[in-house]
Amino acid sequence: MHCIKTLICHSHVNGNLRNTHTRMNILILGSGGREHTFAWKIAQSPLCKHLFVAPGNSGTAEIATNVTIGVTDFKAIKALVLDKHIDMVVVGPEDPLVHGVHDFFLNDAAIKHVSVIGPQKAAAQLEGSKEFAKEFLFRHNIPTAAYESFTKETVEQGYAFLETLNPPYVLKADGLAAGKGVVILNDLNEAKAELKSMLVDSKFGQASTKVVIEEFLDGIELSCFVLTDGKHYKILPTAKDYKRIGEGDTGLNTGGMGAVSPVPFATDEFLNKIEERIVKPTITGFKKDNLPYVGFVFIGLIKVGDDPKVIEYNVRMGDPETEVVLPRLKNDFVDILQAMSNGTLDKINIEIDERAATTIMLVSGGYPEDYEKGKEITGIDTIEDSIAFHAGAQLKNGVVVTSGGRVMAITSYGNTYQEAIKKSYQNIVKLHFDKMYYRKDIGFDL
Ligand code: AMP
Ligand code: GLY
Repeated sequence: MHCIKTLICHSHVNGNLRNTHTRMNILILGSGGREHTFAWKIAQSPLCKHLFVAPGNSGTAEIATNVTIGVTDFKAIKALVLDKHIDMVVVGPEDPLVHGVHDFFLNDAAIKHVSVIGPQKAAAQLEGSKEFAKEFLFRHNIPTAAYESFTKETVEQGYAFLETLNPPYVLKADGLAAGKGVVILNDLNEAKAELKSMLVDSKFGQASTKVVIEEFLDGIELSCFVLTDGKHYKILPTAKDYKRIGEGDTGLNTGGMGAVSPVPFATDEFLNKIEERIVKPTITGFKKDNLPYVGFVFIGLIKVGDDPKVIEYNVRMGDPETEVVLPRLKNDFVDILQAMSNGTLDKINIEIDERAATTIMLVSGGYPEDYEKGKEITGIDTIEDSIAFHAGAQLKNGVVVTSGGRVMAITSYGNTYQEAIKKSYQNIVKLHFDKMYYRKDIGFDL
């Protein structure tokens, strides 16, 4: 399928095109709201010829060709890339990166010419291993919480370390644990029991063969998104997401229930601290440590007093943060992606929409615990002045039905974030699926 908007946008965007650019066939890996947003933005580019998403969702199906391939099925991805003459692969989630999808391309003569947006396996460990990330942060003097890491063999030392800390106690499974690997407890005995459960009883399987215990940082969180070609970087707008399922930031952690961009408390002075103390040493750290990195760096930050500290690195964009960050990016996204893969990101001038963007996530009742799927979603075509980014939603016999916990992100622009949030809520009341739930207080703390 053609990038539909290509035909519409071509003439008026054409003036900005450089002759060196060629139109590309692009494959996006993933199936969430982030990937629908990538597809939405890429489909607007005259530089995109054909757009494929694997496996995609009902949203991407409208603007691209979905291909039913899992994101870590590298063999099938290679076959698709060869068959469809794909020039660029944009990796959405962390899993394929941590499993080395970029290295897989580089090591295969038939596909090594393909641009892959996402770091190689070595750098993907920044997300794949908490210990690796902490060592990187300390090696490059980047502000973060003090920590120690422990294994089954050193569990007794782990108990002793916990005794030296003040509550709350922060325990992190070293590896990927589907967003569930961080446990924060107030009680020392519960913390010891949790440490034992992770290390000795393999609570998170392989992911908790090592556990990082961290100093608790008290502050307000925000996310910073950085694009890099390995040498240069560009900073995208900040965003704040709402991770808890319940209003007032209560209840279980989710993948994210909503997001706001820009973050009102991120003043120019604070952003400058982030760039000088965190972004610059991170990018030079990649070079010093010989970690090739073409992709997105998602830096999870916490503002402690007036200072930013790193909570975590992710080697991808955030979800639902992408649903508010990309809509504010005025540039041609493919132009940027090409510059990332060509090492010419310094030539790009990032242009940001002054307006605020917010998104509210609609989720299946029960999420993040058990929930039902296959519920028909109605009202999507009645949405006005907001964008519905599909997440856990699929087409079934021509009907859009729920297929995951996080179902759809409703993004709006506004002169203020309050105005944007209001628009999303006005549209959400027109949407329906059985047991639909969403937080009604996104932005409450700003
Ligand atoms: P992570 O997976 O590392 O992002 O951790 C998940 C969540 O746990 C973060 O978004 C924070 O809310 C919280 N968290 C992680 N580390 C700390 C820390 N050192 N101090 C306070 N909260 C933390
Ligand atoms: N919204 C948080 C994440 O994508 O990890």
